[in-house]
Amino acid sequence: MLPTKPHQIKTALVSITSLYVAGWGFYYLAQETIRRRELASRKRKYPLRAPLLPPHAISAGVRVAERVGVLAHTNSKGSSSSSSPDQLEAKKILKQRGLPDASEHNEEADALSPPATPTRGPSWYGGATDSEVSRIHRRFSSLKVLGRYANVVPEWREQGVWEWAAWKLCYSLFYKPRIWWDGGFKADQKTHEGRQKIDMLLPVERIKWDQLFASSGTAATDSNGPTPPAVREAAQSSFTWIGQSTCLIQLEGVTILTDPVFSKQPVVSVFSPTRMRPMPCNIHELVANAAIDVVLLTHNHFDHLDIHVLPLIPKRATFIVPVGLAPLLQQYGVEATRIVELDWWQQRRLPLSIRVASKDNGSSGGDTTTIERRRCFDVTAVPASHWSARTPLDTNTTLWNSYAVRVYTDDQASTAPRSCSPSSAVTEPRSLFFCGDTGYSPSLFTAIGRALGPFDVACLPIGSYEPRWHMQIQHMHVTESVQVTRDIGSRRAFAMHWGTWSMSDETWDDPYWQLHKELRQTSDDPERLLAVPFGKTFWF
Ligand SMILES: *[C@@H]1O[C@H](CO)[C@@H](O)[C@H](O)[C@H]1NC(C)=O
Ligand SMILES: *[C@@H]1O[C@H](CO)[C@@H](O)[C@H](O)[C@H]1NC(C)=O
Repeated sequence: MLPTKPHQIKTALVSITSLYVAGWGFYYLAQETIRRRELASRKRKYPLRAPLLPPHAISAGVRVAERVGVLAHTNSKGSSSSSSPDQLEAKKILKQRGLPDASEHNEEADALSPPATPTRGPSWYGGATDSEVSRIHRRFSSLKVLGRYANVVPEWREQGVWEWAAWKLCYSLFYKPRIWWDGGFKADQKTHEGRQKIDMLLPVERIKWDQLFASSGTAATDSNGPTPPAVREAAQSSFTWIGQSTCLIQLEGVTILTDPVFSKQPVVSVFSPTRMRPMPCNIHELVANAAIDVVLLTHNHFDHLDIHVLPLIPKRATFIVPVGLAPLLQQYGVEATRIVELDWWQQRRLPLSIRVASKDNGSSGGDTTTIERRRCFDVTAVPASHWSARTPLDTNTTLWNSYAVRVYTDDQASTAPRSCSPSSAVTEPRSLFFCGDTGYSPSLFTAIGRALGPFDVACLPIGSYEPRWHMQIQHMHVTESVQVTRDIGSRRAFAMHWGTWSMSDETWDDPYWQLHKELRQTSDDPERLLAVPFGKTFWF
């Protein structure tokens, strides 16, 4: 009997679909196998020894040490009779640095003592020796598997598209209905109490530009476009949250714009969320009132990279981007010479000159007199645990970064104008840790603290964390963000990546309450991590 036409079509469709699904199955399986083998080999070759424990982990006892994952190769029972050479070396180093040794302490008593406050100087943070730094770099260097970047933290597991589909098509549909979920924001907008809560938790203030910049007063232009406004003070350091991961940060007078997105929706679509709150400024205001020196881009997701903003950024600004992102930027009018692509642990020093409003001559005539100051902008890209994609075809073809930034003042008489070296700096540098989207990895963040910490200020994401079973490895929970401030040794930290768009299953205000709960329960310092209003400037 011959098969009928519809029957043939059905068979063909089923076969093609199964082949397609099986193909992806094989792809993910191969990718994950190669990735895990590579990580296992790195773990053998580049062990992160006990000195990698931050002070808070040491004081909280071996259990935390195990969580941090760096004691795994030593004897966790801590019996000194079986001390390996590694342990002895670790003990010696701890003693030299004047740090307590976990194995000599009563675990329970120590668990009660509050975590140590990070201190500056030749201590644990930033104290890695050259060989330790090189082990950290190799352990967490970027990894390409089958032509796409992969994560290198031990916490990552393959998610494929399946897990996302399981979340959106099963979990959100049947188990915990969250279709077109807005985090409960619209419901709150409808009641008086809800509106009060919104105004209290997510206040929006207009940015006070005149505190930050003196208006240039002239329409003078040079080859780089209009003369930018001058900063008020040469040593000005400030933080202003604009929304999601878009921040305006100043370090020693250098103005940094991060992950600039100014549209109402990350993507124009009914499936894409809309901004909960009005923005404290638009891109035109920002460009007219601020002198942007550097733009930091962490990755290419739509809530972090808005291509419509790119052509509007003044030509004097340099873009620091992850490897692979330059072609997209060039396509939208950013010249290749203004783009610096960084791989994980790659560092770049940029000599910058900033314009500072001179106080003495400020009032004479309409124009503000300005003086030039030299700065050395030193940026290192560090790993994050995330992924990248702008289209279904370019998944993971570009990297995802966090950044460690130091700004040195370089005010001495300039001998070579293009030189930029910390040795000629006159003061201690100001440092910033700007965290891209990432899951929490104790070993990675302690390694960052050890190699590049401590930091004067950190910007950390606190939202987009539910459901945990899916989000855990790509977005941190608030409690983990608080932990990061200890791992990297930041003196102050500002919260971002919440209250802007509802993209996950938590309610819109949950990050805020979780943050307060966490700080009240575990922190020595209520300002360890601050959730701040949109548009309000904080000085540090
Ligand atoms: C992209 O990277 C993530 C993280 O390593 C991985 O889970 C995902 O499967 C990758 N996607 C593709 C298509 O390779
Ligand atoms: C102020 O302007 C005068 C001349 O216009 C100049 O000589 C002087 O150095 C300026 N002062 C400062 C602090 O720039």
